[in-house]
Amino acid sequence: MARVPVQFTLNGEERAEFIESGTTLLHALRDTMGDTSPKGGCQQGTCGACSVIVDGELRLSCLTLAQTCEGAAIETTAGLAAGGVLHPLQRAIMDGFAAQCGFCTPGMIMAAKALLDHTPNPTREDVIEAISGNVCRCTGYEPIIAAVLAAARSNSQNAG
Ligand code: FES
Ligand code: FES
Repeated sequence: MARVPVQFTLNGEERAEFIESGTTLLHALRDTMGDTSPKGGCQQGTCGACSVIVDGELRLSCLTLAQTCEGAAIETTAGLAAGGVLHPLQRAIMDGFAAQCGFCTPGMIMAAKALLDHTPNPTREDVIEAISGNVCRCTGYEPIIAAVLAAARSNSQNAG
């Protein structure tokens, strides 16, 4: 298969690599860029484990061709902790015991981040809707919802 160049910003860092034509963003990130934080679950758009943010919008990386992200700004969970300090969502997930096996967690966090980036003070219903595309087999969702709301509160306290 032909190899093609792709160039984008990954968590603020310029990246330029050659990938096989038709490679999904999920596999480009994991296999070529060395970022294994997006998880390959169903790989057909139904579990949300592969969720990333592309140019500010939540995207399923398993359904996104890497070539279509040329020049984009891509965010993954791997880039959230700045200088070793956890992002408020990571901190709230940890403090609230909202991860068990952890497989869904990176995708959940990106779905929640996309919500909070656009809606800093979400309602419980906003959170439920935002993570509705993300499957968790372990937690029953309540600890995750509570953690996202706690992160939003902590963000607004820090901003105030
Ligand atoms: S791996 Fe992409 S939605 Fe499941
Ligand atoms: S913590 Fe196991 S799938 Fe969510």
